[in-house]
Amino acid sequence: MIEFRSVTKRFPDGTVAVRDFSLVIPSRRITVLVGSSGSGKTTILRMINRMVDPTSGTIEIDGDDIAGIEPVGLRRGIGYVMQNAGLLPHRRVADNIATVPVLRGVRRKDARARALELMDTVGLDRSLAERYPSQLSGGQQQRVGVARGLAVDPNILLMDEPFGAVDPLVRAELQRELLRLQRDLDKTVVFVTHDIDEALLLGDQIVIFTTGGIVAQAGTPQEILAAPADEFVARFVGADRGKRALHVREQNGRPVVVDSEGRAAGVLVPDDAGLGARAGDGSPADGSAPGGRPEPARDGGAR
Ligand SMILES: Nc1ncnc2c1ncn2[C@@H]1O[C@H](COP(=O)(O)OP(=O)(O)O)[C@@H](O)[C@H]1O
Ligand SMILES: [Mg+2]
Repeated sequence: MIEFRSVTKRFPDGTVAVRDFSLVIPSRRITVLVGSSGSGKTTILRMINRMVDPTSGTIEIDGDDIAGIEPVGLRRGIGYVMQNAGLLPHRRVADNIATVPVLRGVRRKDARARALELMDTVGLDRSLAERYPSQLSGGQQQRVGVARGLAVDPNILLMDEPFGAVDPLVRAELQRELLRLQRDLDKTVVFVTHDIDEALLLGDQIVIFTTGGIVAQAGTPQEILAAPADEFVARFVGADRGKRALHVREQNGRPVVVDSEGRAAGVLVPDDAGLGARAGDGSPADGSAPGGRPEPARDGGAR
């Protein structure tokens, strides 16, 4: 579990990127931070692996304040998938994936062998191992980025708009693959996007930011769709456009909530409060506390 407690980040030039931010990020779930550009999402992500340190407030991982953990050691357990894959153009695919393990002293031969396994994991043909990034499609490059993030065998995977630069069809495929990966590998994923549809599809928990970087609502997709906290959220999820006459469809063995245009709006999961059963008919959920701390929707204990 990752916990932000009243975290503020003010950069030296005076910009306040994150203001009094508190959030519990449950283990082995996908938490999606969604908001427009400049709302502080990347800064929040980078504070988790101490690429950026908060000005005030604390961040704990499994109860330990990370301010007391030396960054290199901390990052051993945290994978980072950058915007636009962030690959090194002059290195071959296998070497890109093996970069961080090699830097940490893993023998090159072992790191490359592991890189080939990771190519299988992310659905890349091993025959691409000796290519350079420019010789891959956008979608393949993104998969290399994910493989590289997994190369340190992290418990936590940070993903910063990882599928932003690919066309919609490839993007949909990468999203499905991430859900599959998450089921198989059981990582704690913190995923940043500006795309609400992507957030609703992938997130077990979603945090919606206003342009000023304030949390407008945090909750499961069902909670947010059923009871938007305010006008801003309602507009953001499209509830006021009359487009989201929601219904449920089976997709990859999971019940997926789709809107009238067939766009995925969320995933139905069992829920003690019975919210999941009601999300499909669009009736407002009772007894829930919009904006409150969401409970993990899937079964399974915290790490
Ligand atoms: N190193 C920095 N120095 C000064 N301002 C920064 C720095 N990094 C980000 N910012 C500012 O902080 C705000 C939030 O940025 P960022 O976290 O990148 O937002 P997002 O990822 O949501 O687009 C923006 O106004 C941005 O310009
Ligand atoms: Mg960003």
